[in-house]
Amino acid sequence: MRALLAFALVLSTACHSRGPAPVDDDLRYASHVALAPLAAALRASGGDPARIVRPLRARDLLALRANERFKFVLGLDRHFALAPLPASAPHNEYVHPVLADGAPVRTAGGLRVDHDGSTVRAVVLDPESRSYCTDTASLRAAVRALIAMGVEPASITVLARPVACVDDGAPPVRYGALMHTVGSRFEMLGRALAADNRDAARYALHELDEELDALPTARAPDETTVDLAPHAQGFLAGPFAALKRAGEGDDLGAFRAAWSATAAGCNGCHAVSGHGFLRVPTVPGEAVPGFAAAGDAGAR
Ligand code: HEC
Repeated sequence: MRALLAFALVLSTACHSRGPAPVDDDLRYASHVALAPLAAALRASGGDPARIVRPLRARDLLALRANERFKFVLGLDRHFALAPLPASAPHNEYVHPVLADGAPVRTAGGLRVDHDGSTVRAVVLDPESRSYCTDTASLRAAVRALIAMGVEPASITVLARPVACVDDGAPPVRYGALMHTVGSRFEMLGRALAADNRDAARYALHELDEELDALPTARAPDETTVDLAPHAQGFLAGPFAALKRAGEGDDLGAFRAAWSATAAGCNGCHAVSGHGFLRVPTVPGEAVPGFAAAGDAGAR
């Protein structure tokens, strides 16, 4: 009897030291968007997947600029992959599906580290990913991974957010309103270029770039039956990426030529979406949209 008791004790301590069998019930979130156009946009922006940051220990987080939000994913292996640039940086195409190489993730969102260069004081996580549509509860997996890396549990907080998604668009940006702003920014850019005003041109391009962030997930007009998302991604990765590169250079002639090529890209999507009558002129300086009769310079 005593031997049996001892045996039971040994068994129970053995079980205890191993802990309960781990139950892998963290959800796996699949991406709602295609990787290829996003990977192309990354390359077009001069980005490189090799630059993705993969911290393993708490101190690796000190490499991130303090108090800046960085996009992150937590892979199925429970390791972080972080954008090398803050979410606010221009020309930052390190979006969630790129960070995960298109694979499902445990969670995705934004990560902000408060540190003084030697100690992590606070980590703030948010679950906003329009591609993975992760919810706040999914951040538990990220919190556990941070603790496993040696981050002090009490220093971790989350910013709860409603699920943001390309499908249900939260908040939904409508094409009509977005395009109204895009049109006026693009016109301003053209007028600045026509006037050789590089500073105003760069300003307008920057504003335009910010507006166009919403393009891939914008809600198309109800009567539009074609899927505009691939056209949006093609436009951003193609003519618009070239315009941004031209805007960084010193050659105003090349900047103007890239503006004209971009206008042709705008018109390409207007044609497929049944809005061919909204002609974006290809000559910088003209009003956007233009209503010149076919055959005039601005209508080509
Ligand atoms: C991926 C497709 C797509 C691309 C790219 C695109 N547009 Fe549009 N645009 C549309 C659609 C669709 C509408 C109609 C929106 C609606 O009916 O609500 C529109 C409407 C417009 C309008 C009319 C907005 C208003 O005031 O009602 C302007 C101006 C415009 N686009 C300018 C541009 C410019 C400039 C570019 C390029 C820099 C561009 N668009 C690129 C799809 C696109």
